[in-house]
Amino acid sequence: MGSNVIIFDTTLRDGEQAPGNSMSAEEKLRLAQQLDALGVDVIEAGFPSASEGDRRAVRMVAETVRRPVIAALARCHDRDIDLAGEALQPAARPRVHVFIATSDLHLECKLRLSREQCLERAGEAVRRARRYTDDVEFSAEDATRTDLEFLCRVVEAAIAAGATTINLPDTVGYALPVEYGTMFRAVRERVPGAERVVFSAHCHDDLGLAVANSLAAIEAGAGQVECTVNGIGERAGNAALEEIVVAGRVRPGAVSFRCGVNPQELYRTSQLLSHVIGVFPQPNKAVVGRNAFAHEAGIHQHGVLQNGLTYEIIRPEEVGVARSSLVLGKHSGRHALERRYRELGYELDDTTIAKLYGEFTALADKKREILDEDLLALLHGRFHDAPEAYRLTHLQVTCGTVAATADVRLAGPAADGRERSATASGNGPIAAAFAAIAKVVGRQVDVMNLTVQSVTPGRDSLGQVLVQARIDGKSLSGHGASTDIVEASARALVHALNKVSHADQLEDQSLNASYFWGV
Ligand code: KIV
Ligand code: ZN
Repeated sequence: MGSNVIIFDTTLRDGEQAPGNSMSAEEKLRLAQQLDALGVDVIEAGFPSASEGDRRAVRMVAETVRRPVIAALARCHDRDIDLAGEALQPAARPRVHVFIATSDLHLECKLRLSREQCLERAGEAVRRARRYTDDVEFSAEDATRTDLEFLCRVVEAAIAAGATTINLPDTVGYALPVEYGTMFRAVRERVPGAERVVFSAHCHDDLGLAVANSLAAIEAGAGQVECTVNGIGERAGNAALEEIVVAGRVRPGAVSFRCGVNPQELYRTSQLLSHVIGVFPQPNKAVVGRNAFAHEAGIHQHGVLQNGLTYEIIRPEEVGVARSSLVLGKHSGRHALERRYRELGYELDDTTIAKLYGEFTALADKKREILDEDLLALLHGRFHDAPEAYRLTHLQVTCGTVAATADVRLAGPAADGRERSATASGNGPIAAAFAAIAKVVGRQVDVMNLTVQSVTPGRDSLGQVLVQARIDGKSLSGHGASTDIVEASARALVHALNKVSHADQLEDQSLNASYFWGV
């Protein structure tokens, strides 16, 4: 087994930096707790200078998640670095991560800085970050398109100023594995003091090579890889954490490294993230996609039944994908439900169990067999810390060859404790239900994306819906589950509305956080 590689998770920072992936501070905290359970070494919790919401998120994660290093990103600006240092103040193990672009293209067109000015800024920023912590990471943005001589000078300046980790990002996903590995070898050989720091890989997937490049960097001596759950991130995304980890396990002779990630937590983490951001990984996504372990061709099925190794290089159980099992039915009690959740790895408090039990019995009335996946879908619907401002109490839809009409009633504190109702029509049952909900709450609702997935096979399957919507200008996601997909969609929208009401109360600008990359 090779040397240890630090797993630096940037789901909450770079991962969030894609349209529709915004997360509230509470959602980031929930995910950070799961990333801790997953065993990552570093959690990059946000970019504090981007918004008040991100400052709050970094602070909340720093206060609560104590084992991993908590990192915060900053441009090479005094204000950015101070905000990052302050937000990290409660952390047990804080890291300030400063970055500046180093390619001539970025220096000339974006930053309008000379190479000498860039060098100066890098050194000053690292020195300032060291006022807050001894753990300082420096990133040379667009390293793969930077002149190698100059890249070595910047890295040397950052090390001399006190950086302890040097990140060489493939910011635009441009490099090929052999080139990326060669760059790491060259910088490590040429830069004085390179042996004192950890080199880090950070790859984007524009050419579909982010994981391959990360593995090439490890082979070339990188001691840290930066990655995201489900590979989410800017444009085509970042290197997928689960793919890197599993590649190391499946091919230890070829890519030899150790890491502290518990593979059994991979699927659970992927599912939680999907429900938070409202986007499932594509079905054929390696390791966590819903078809990753499905064998369609008869010849494959036959082989797998004889011996799993014929077509399965990863056993689903190894990454925490449970084989469907019948668990509970209509007559199961609260304790049985609680025990099954515990067996699935969730210790839930009494209030949550009580609420889930109500949903479970309602589902058991509609669906004969309740499988683990059903229980997880119900649970994920509760992974939002936004209080229930609205509750769907009634939905009736008429549709067919005429325009659909929906009659909706909502109750809850935001409805002043009363039931409020509205009727609206639309060019389909879901559109009509959404129009009626928007009418009840009096908000502008634009649905950007809606995905429906069946949770289990079979005609009475639970359908889960993830919706991404802009509500009065705020982008949010919501999750809903029901045996009826129109009801599941309505529940998903109400869930998103609850998040908006909560954000309004907090005046949380993070939900609209837009990152700014210039000087
Ligand atoms: O892709 C990139 O260059 C980044 C840096 C800020 C590390 O995300
Ligand atoms: Zn990036």
